[in-house]
Amino acid sequence: MIEMTGVSKDYGPVRALHDIDLRVAAGEVTCVLGDNGAGKSTLIKIMSGLHPHTSGDFRVAGESRVFASPREALALGIATVYQDLAVVPLMEVWRNFFLGAELTGRSDRRNVSPPRDGSSPRNASFLRDGSSPRNASSLRDGSSLRDGSSPRDGFGRRLGFGLRIREMRGIVARELRSMGIDADVDRPIGTLSGGQRQCVAIARAVYFGARILILDEPTAALGVKQSALVLRRIAAARDEGLAVLLITHSPQHALLVGDHFIVLKLGAVALDARRGEVTLEELTAQMAGGSELDTLSAELGR
Ligand SMILES: Nc1ncnc2c1ncn2[C@@H]1O[C@H](COP(=O)(O)OP(=O)(O)OP(=O)(O)O)[C@@H](O)[C@H]1O
Ligand SMILES: [Mg+2]
Repeated sequence: MIEMTGVSKDYGPVRALHDIDLRVAAGEVTCVLGDNGAGKSTLIKIMSGLHPHTSGDFRVAGESRVFASPREALALGIATVYQDLAVVPLMEVWRNFFLGAELTGRSDRRNVSPPRDGSSPRNASFLRDGSSPRNASSLRDGSSLRDGSSPRDGFGRRLGFGLRIREMRGIVARELRSMGIDADVDRPIGTLSGGQRQCVAIARAVYFGARILILDEPTAALGVKQSALVLRRIAAARDEGLAVLLITHSPQHALLVGDHFIVLKLGAVALDARRGEVTLEELTAQMAGGSELDTLSAELGR
């Protein structure tokens, strides 16, 4: 899905990424680990269209790209879930889910039923022919669901035009249930736990047609139970065929869901291993710089 060859990124005189080779495949969770300042966020920013790379080749579905804006990334089905989720805390869960992409007009089964029927993924053509999938523009701005040509009355007014609230609530309730989240869709989203909110954000991206899901430290501020909830949702997205890129500080979490592990150190790839090729100890040592931990341990007299 995503391939980088020799990608570098400079911020003025600062070289944040140096000669990165990376592959993010569909149906896999690729974990990117690394200490603070290693370049993890910079990597995400290139993929999500926030900052163009300086040199090297960045391909999405085989085509070289330099994104000028996050919209271009979204149009290709690359969705990024940031840790500080852009939600409106006092607004209901279901409204947040559909924010900017509300279902309006007359019900159109084609447009609303999520792909739970085991049929081929609704956006199979997504990255193949470069055309927008059904829901990609709603991922962008919701316009596709709004500009449908609903029937009009004799005065040219739209008939049956309005928010399809019951339908939206139903969809979100089903999403919550499928994730094992026992919460009412009418609750303000701010009352959900951090892990539950992350899950809702992931489910939203998947619902609106993401093919590549980028997660920036989704479990960083979470306890064990909440992390488990999020990791389960990540595994489900992978099983649905998405390419998942998981940024994390936690080798444990990476090993729980990862198929492929990349450790960044000072902007370069320090380790690139598949599942089974690396142990928790190796991953931890690579991340923290084993010798630094030894030094610290000696210094603290433990
Ligand atoms: N906008 C920017 N301008 C200048 N330098 C930057 C900018 N963003 C990042 N850097 C530098 O690039 C390097 C990599 O930063 P980046 O944020 O990608 O690291 P990170 O791995 O995400 O770290 P953390 O774990 O702290 O989030 C750092 O040296 C950082 O100071
Ligand atoms: Mg970062």
